[in-house]
Amino acid sequence: MTQPEAAAPVAPAPAHPLAMLRPDEIERAVAIVRAERSLPEAARFAYIGLDEPVKDAVTQLVDGAFPPRRVRLVIVPGPTAHVIEAVVSLDGSVTSWLECPETRPALLFEESMHAIRAVKDNADWQAAMRLRGITDFAKVQVDPWPSGNFGVAHEDDRRISRCIFYYREDPTDNGYARPIEGVIAFVDHGRQEVLEVVDYGVVPIPPERGNYRGDSVGPARTDLKPLTITQPEGPSFTVDGNLVEWQRWSFRVSMDPYEGLVLHTIGYEDGGRVRPILHRAAVSEMVVPYGDPGPMHGWKNAFDIGEWGLGRMANSLTLGCDCVGEIHYFDVNFATEGGVPYTLAHAICMHEEDYGILWKHVDMQGGTTEVRRSRRLVVSSIATVGNYEYGFYWYFYLDGSMQLEVKLTGIMSTMALAPGERPTNGSIVAPQLAAPYHQHLFNVRLDFDVDGPRNTVYEVDAVAAPAGPDNPLGNTILSVATPLRTELEAQRVVDPLRSRIWKIVNPEVRNGLGEPVAYKLVPASTPTLLADPTSSVGRRAGFATRNLWVTPYDRKEWRAAGDHPNQHAGGAGLPTWTAANRPIEATDVVVWHTFGVTHIPRPEDWPVMPVEYTGFQLVPVGFFDRNPALDVSPSDHCT
Ligand code: CO
Repeated sequence: MTQPEAAAPVAPAPAHPLAMLRPDEIERAVAIVRAERSLPEAARFAYIGLDEPVKDAVTQLVDGAFPPRRVRLVIVPGPTAHVIEAVVSLDGSVTSWLECPETRPALLFEESMHAIRAVKDNADWQAAMRLRGITDFAKVQVDPWPSGNFGVAHEDDRRISRCIFYYREDPTDNGYARPIEGVIAFVDHGRQEVLEVVDYGVVPIPPERGNYRGDSVGPARTDLKPLTITQPEGPSFTVDGNLVEWQRWSFRVSMDPYEGLVLHTIGYEDGGRVRPILHRAAVSEMVVPYGDPGPMHGWKNAFDIGEWGLGRMANSLTLGCDCVGEIHYFDVNFATEGGVPYTLAHAICMHEEDYGILWKHVDMQGGTTEVRRSRRLVVSSIATVGNYEYGFYWYFYLDGSMQLEVKLTGIMSTMALAPGERPTNGSIVAPQLAAPYHQHLFNVRLDFDVDGPRNTVYEVDAVAAPAGPDNPLGNTILSVATPLRTELEAQRVVDPLRSRIWKIVNPEVRNGLGEPVAYKLVPASTPTLLADPTSSVGRRAGFATRNLWVTPYDRKEWRAAGDHPNQHAGGAGLPTWTAANRPIEATDVVVWHTFGVTHIPRPEDWPVMPVEYTGFQLVPVGFFDRNPALDVSPSDHCT
């Protein structure tokens, strides 16, 4: 075995255990793997990211320094359905090496480019295009999609995609306005081979080009006056590496190639010490199931984290466009599939926003008026996954509240209609063009540490009591809190009619009123998965069948549909882990919340969607003894 020192001469100084990965750390991890293990030249790296230490190790120094950092790699050694999960310690060696047969990584970018070329060179595909009057193949856009798991023979031991097609008269045309209906190509990504071209029959290409760029939509409005945000004394936050401090909040920021934006060690300074709230918060998986039954669209179930990656697809953000004001950007270091580090500049944006009023009262009797302005700190990133854009916005407020807002925009996935045809499971959005009904369901993994790791989750419903001797006026409102004691008890759905929330309580820490401290998860009015539980996506997206899951912390339980959902048969992730029905009372709990939207497309969503919003809030409940924002100063004009 070669000494790793020979491959990477200098071991980097250990950074903070949760600092973002540096390029030299990526280089060294790859060098150690290549030196210790014989990898084929064609091997690819589907994932290179920080192997985050277990919770207790984050703050522990060894001999006055942080312990050596570790890097996790998912290696694709060859063309078959086989990956290697490796962990490398940056002070010297591979510490874990797990061969995973019958396992597919996310779709690789390089292979997707090869798949597109292979399709365009394929005679059957060319014949299908000619049948539709298309002879200039450069005008065809090829979109490789994750193929799902439907028992199709092509799936066996292969890493495949299903490619679908769109026509662009001009390269700047809307890519999704003119679907080439009826044609699907199955491609073996590992072997760069077209397996089959299926033709379900010709449907005319929709006539309109659906362009939305400024030069295509007629005269622009001229009556919007400038709206400028200035902070003449600069922003109120401070940044040290990836550590952010703002208005008593503190946390670390990072970006994972798959989860995208990640927040660590979120705490709130109170009485001279930082009180922990969340050890880690990140969107762990998402699924976009389409609701059209036909063979052309019925298999579409994109897992945009596990099959593509929100970090890998993250945009480099632009001042004045994506974010406005006094901006701090975080750059992120990723690795190419060849294992070479690169920097995604401005991947994460942070700024402050005015948010209306924080609190107000007009005292008629005393003749006083008190009003305070609300402000929030915004940490955001935006990922482009094919046709769609997803923006992830974490908000921190002055009253101890937090929020995750997901912004959905971009272009809908479309289908061509025969003239006069009306779809049953989709909406017409342009002549001969429909967008199938679909859902966007996100799962966020919230590793709570409310004033310490030992927490209990309660479901709290507001209910009416029956009229009777205890309720003579029939007006009684009860707040019924039910402890969720085991994993099966904690598989829950929203109930807006009962104002249902879930409260994460530390039973061992009391506030000044003698009550246990808590934060509550306030869900939006959000759906669960509509697909049948026995369907392919019903099995694969089990996490989306419930709005709430609670597990005891386990370092291996990271993503709601498992680590490798691509072509997975289903059952992985939350359904498997929680089948053990482990106890979750007064323990280090992880809360998993599924939220999102069922999208019944509107004509107004075409040709590009105005942002649709979804998300949830985290709000203190007895974490403080009173309104924690009484000390916010009145702004200049209010004194
Ligand atoms: Co949608």
